[in-house]
Amino acid sequence: MSSDSAITSAAAASRPILRIPVHLGVIMDGNGRWARARGKPRTEGHLAGVKSLRRLVELCINYGVANLTVFSFSSENWSRPRDEINFIFGLLRRFVASDLEKLYRNNVRVRIIGDRDGLDGSLRRLIDDVEMKTDANTGLNLLVAFNYGAKAEIAMAVRRIAEAVKAGDLDPADITEATISRSLYTYGVPDPDLIIRTSGEQRVSNFLLWQAAYAEFAFVHEYWPDFDESTFRRVLEDFSSRERRFGGIEANPT
Ligand code: IPE
Ligand code: IPE
Ligand code: MG
Repeated sequence: MSSDSAITSAAAASRPILRIPVHLGVIMDGNGRWARARGKPRTEGHLAGVKSLRRLVELCINYGVANLTVFSFSSENWSRPRDEINFIFGLLRRFVASDLEKLYRNNVRVRIIGDRDGLDGSLRRLIDDVEMKTDANTGLNLLVAFNYGAKAEIAMAVRRIAEAVKAGDLDPADITEATISRSLYTYGVPDPDLIIRTSGEQRVSNFLLWQAAYAEFAFVHEYWPDFDESTFRRVLEDFSSRERRFGGIEANPT
């Protein structure tokens, strides 16, 4: 064995085995600051952000992440200037329309989660279309949180449950955590085990509040457009080293 390959295999042996999240959530933040740092308008940052999203989808496919939820427009983002909102909506349309073929070919199943009533008819039809076309796919489950807010989602779930009680289909005594989970947009998808937020901000900003009860969080300093495979690996390595106790005690206490 040459000394080179000895070094390589020693490095491989010391590299921790990556634990891959079953459900990864990503708060894609920092597009505006990325653009400002380059003297460009915020819209350029959003454009670069879509490229970064494509890269993330590929990474998740290659690394075997089963479910990916990305936060792309929050119910609070309506407070931004109209021009910026229009640009972001245009980007979603273009992403859905231009990437549909490739997502389909890559066996990705797409679901858009959030309040659809706040979206115009043509966008709703586009969303229905992409969901329908990819519904039978069995690869990466991609959830795009658009016009999404976790508190609004929980309020919607409570309304649904109350309707079932009112209709006589549900006894309040039978309402469990599972009843609530099933009534959320993420029904059928396991809770996220890892949530990444880019751009150095350390807050949740109304993302998956119920589902994140036991998620691990990774806050990275990179702006969203700069998120690449090296950042992804760094986060996965850190995630792999964490002990998740879920209220219990260490697996092997000394
Ligand atoms: C994230 O980037 C994208 C959206 C919230 C739509 P931002 O637009 O929030 O960028 P910063 O945080 O202002 O830099
Ligand atoms: C969170 O980012 C929402 C998305 C990434 C879509 P924001 O930029 O809206 O969050 P705050 O305002 O900094 O909390
Ligand atoms: Mg932001």
